[in-house]
Amino acid sequence: MVITTCIFDAYGTLFDVSAAARQAANEPENAALTDKWMPLANHWRLKQLQYTWLRAITGAHTDFWEVTQNGLDWAMEACGLDGNTALRKRLLDLYWELQAYPEVPEMLSKLKQTGLNTAILSNGSPDMLNGAVRSAGIADVLDDVLSVESVGIFKPDARVYDLVGQRFGCDRGEVLFVSSNGWDAAGASGYGFLTAWVNRSGEPMDRLPWTPSHVLSDLMTIPELAEA
Ligand code: LAC
Repeated sequence: MVITTCIFDAYGTLFDVSAAARQAANEPENAALTDKWMPLANHWRLKQLQYTWLRAITGAHTDFWEVTQNGLDWAMEACGLDGNTALRKRLLDLYWELQAYPEVPEMLSKLKQTGLNTAILSNGSPDMLNGAVRSAGIADVLDDVLSVESVGIFKPDARVYDLVGQRFGCDRGEVLFVSSNGWDAAGASGYGFLTAWVNRSGEPMDRLPWTPSHVLSDLMTIPELAEA
């Protein structure tokens, strides 16, 4: 089946989630982060994701901004940084303007030139996503930004992946879904999308019942993959 629609996860896939801690660590007033930004970023991301899964399976949904703050508070305490309210505020402010990976704008432009539908499908709340899209300057090369908030549950619940067909009127087999999160690529494969797992850091494959259709090291080859 021909691919008509290319859908991207946001955090970790288009936007570098470590960028907030890395950038804050370079600022003179945040010397406390110099040796700790990497474990902080890792704890923050992992807790943020764990909270999405736990809230989804218990039916206790809240938005991604809330779990992002909850994850940061856990991570700051784990790293002995709790109580540093100025640092907390700085890290959260930076989350609204995360850097996109360098290849993102050109890759999305190429997809648009070939006439494919392009969109984000993310756990992010609409405000957070719009902030990140604006600061990365990629609004013009996306047809839409789809947020789980319209169904009130996080990935990998099928109701989230359903948003793609509802928006673009396409079959599951026409969709190439791109995520750097192994569990998200796996979940989307189980749903019936073609998938590309962007494994930038050489992580092992998740042990789940579904596997991604493609494994890539960055986003550069997505346009060729979508046209093949
Ligand atoms: C997202 C998270 C999973 O953007 O990275 O949906």
